[in-house]
Amino acid sequence: MIWAHADGCRVVDSEGREYLDLSGGFGVAALGHGNERVRRALAAQPVVHALGDLAEAEATVALRERLPWPAKLGVTGEDAVEIALRTALLATGKAGIVAFSGAYHGTGLLALAATGFSRFRAPFQPWLPGPVFRRPFGRDPGTLPASAGCVIVEPVQGRGGAGVAPSHFLRTLRARCDEAGALLVVDAIYAGLGRVGELWPGADVADVVCVGKALGHGLPISAALFVNRRLERVWQLGPEDVYTHTHTGNPLACAAALVVLDEVPRLLERVREAGERFAAAGWHGAGLLRARPGDALAAWRRGVIVVPAGEDGSLMSATPPLTITDAEIDEALERLR
Ligand SMILES: Cc1ncc(COP(=O)(O)O)c(C=O)c1O
Repeated sequence: MIWAHADGCRVVDSEGREYLDLSGGFGVAALGHGNERVRRALAAQPVVHALGDLAEAEATVALRERLPWPAKLGVTGEDAVEIALRTALLATGKAGIVAFSGAYHGTGLLALAATGFSRFRAPFQPWLPGPVFRRPFGRDPGTLPASAGCVIVEPVQGRGGAGVAPSHFLRTLRARCDEAGALLVVDAIYAGLGRVGELWPGADVADVVCVGKALGHGLPISAALFVNRRLERVWQLGPEDVYTHTHTGNPLACAAALVVLDEVPRLLERVREAGERFAAAGWHGAGLLRARPGDALAAWRRGVIVVPAGEDGSLMSATPPLTITDAEIDEALERLR
């Protein structure tokens, strides 16, 4: 299927076939595809590309001021995870990572090492950093290994299949990290920015929160947010930024992010309501991060875009624009019947 047009929650393919998009493009199009305010913000930018970590454009500076904590910016979600994990190494001197079954943190070697999906890791095993201590998601991991510099966790698992942990889980992890002198990294790349009904899920307990996906609303940008503000300092490693990318802090992406941060807070109540509509139809998860057993390709044939999820791919996940209406939800669920 080739996307020819995308507007709100609807996608038209190159053959003119119309779909209801319950994927939101992997949860990115939080305000709906083709959002007019985002388009205007992009068109208004006087600088399209500046000098990354050497010289930022005004939009990038504005985004830094707008974010609630100091941030190190990345381009992909995986970059944000990489920054967070490197922060833990710099801050603690310990290379070990505690990560969870069903977790997905990206495909770069460091994020991949922490990812729970063994089929993604297997081809690259000899190169993977560590040690990584894998524990069951949702359960107390027990006393952390002495070499663990951090615990990384999704507040609600995305690719793992909309897995929701018991409510005390994150607090237990906080306590385990405090006991062991490790950092708690919350990977809110899928679940953050309103998707589960909160802007910054896990920020009440985390040292670092990672966001990506919806942040740039289709323009690639991510951030590792230093909720524990002291951590920003561990990156003062000399006159040069030793972990950066050409496109870091891209002004267009930052302009889009400013719109997202302005609009999403108004949608949080609606996300909770819309999530209930999915729950009533048998979709588990939280907010608008939902899944149920099913075949994603069969759903496409019925005119509904969903994404395969779960470690064995047996689930289909729904992460639609947060602007989805009740009528659109009902229409999509009816097509899937
Ligand atoms: C929770 C989580 N972390 C990290 C990533 C990696 O993000 P990206 O694909 O932008 O590198 C993803 C992508 O799906 C994700 O869901």
